[in-house]
Amino acid sequence: MLHDKCVVLGVTGGIAAYKSASLASALVKQGADVHVIMTANARNFITPITFETLTGNKCYIDTFDRNFKFDVTHISLAKKADVIMVAPATADFIAKAANGIADDMLTTVILAAACPKIVAPAMNTGMFFNPITQDNMKKLTRYGFTVIEPASGRLACGDTGAGKMPEPDVLLQYIMREIARDKDLRGMKVLVTAGPTQEDIDPVRYITNHSSGKMGQAIARAAMLRGAEVTLISGPTSLPPVEFVENVSVKSSADMQRAVISRAGEFDMLFMSAAVADFTPAEKADHKVKKTELPEDTRTESGGWRLELKPTGDILRDLSEMRRDDQVICGFAMETEDLVENARGKLERKRLDMIAANSLRTEGAGFAGDTNVITIVTEDTTEELGKLSKLEAGMVLLDRAKEIFDRKASM
Ligand code: CTP
Repeated sequence: MLHDKCVVLGVTGGIAAYKSASLASALVKQGADVHVIMTANARNFITPITFETLTGNKCYIDTFDRNFKFDVTHISLAKKADVIMVAPATADFIAKAANGIADDMLTTVILAAACPKIVAPAMNTGMFFNPITQDNMKKLTRYGFTVIEPASGRLACGDTGAGKMPEPDVLLQYIMREIARDKDLRGMKVLVTAGPTQEDIDPVRYITNHSSGKMGQAIARAAMLRGAEVTLISGPTSLPPVEFVENVSVKSSADMQRAVISRAGEFDMLFMSAAVADFTPAEKADHKVKKTELPEDTRTESGGWRLELKPTGDILRDLSEMRRDDQVICGFAMETEDLVENARGKLERKRLDMIAANSLRTEGAGFAGDTNVITIVTEDTTEELGKLSKLEAGMVLLDRAKEIFDRKASM
């Protein structure tokens, strides 16, 4: 997702520099053109050859290096960069950058560059909480830098506390958010529901379904990458929360209904990808039901347990009853037969703008995988997307939702 993007990665002299090699490698895998600039002290922790091998580009250290074709490197790199990340950023580097000191290649490029700049402080807790460092970080924030909160844990010096550089994965997400996509959804508010719901039978048992939450998370991530302000309301999943979105956790269909309905009016686009239970136990026991002490009227002749289920509230139907005309609502339909006809029926019954339909019988579609095969159904169109990653499928859903949103706005 970073093809045609130039990332300048600054590495300063801290032990976390070894993790910057993984970050450089991850950026290259995303297609970015990565240029590493090390401070002289960083060379005590990792060598330029490591970065040169990983990025295929010369690793810069000295501003007055003559071994390159004539070009004022600190200016050309500063102009070329789509983003600059300094990771790890020592207290010394932060102090220099905050005060406009430009006495080596890295600080010179930083001062010359107009692109977004992100720093990941990594140092001893005492240095991090020192008011001088805290002031310098505030100053950087005021100058438009993004300063990443360091993680807490055991530090290389043996102390425990804040000061650890976040893992390369996390740093990559900061870069992706900044430059991975055009921000064509900036200013829009997007709500996504995801995952299954859990319907309690008693404090121990519940009814649920196979939804993994991956499709909803992919739509939320796609919208975030395109600059939208995203709220993700998710039933229980094993996935970590999505970065840079508001993650709201719910359990039952009733919880999800409350969470969605109470906030629905805030959003421009709503993607209801959660697999909400259609039925929930009619009675929820407040104690564990012992198998030898089943309530008389629920015990079957063969010693089984008959559970009565009652319908849950239909969130999408309630949403469409209270909807504003300028909102775009997308429902989801998982079918095994007559995909398009069933989806179009749902679209009309629930007064939706679009439905993302998939068939459980198609290879590459379905619950736990990383791909999906979606057909987008609107009032007058049917579009088969073919097999895509869930993130790519989410991007197309957002494209279509944006087209509908823009059409409504121009009417
Ligand atoms: N949905 C909802 N509230 C429910 C159940 C489902 O909002 N109580 C939403 C899902 O999030 C999804 C769509 O409705 O967007 C899927 O509906 P589904 O349950 O397949 O629709 P039904 O019309 O109930 O279809 P079926 O007859 O296939 O069960």
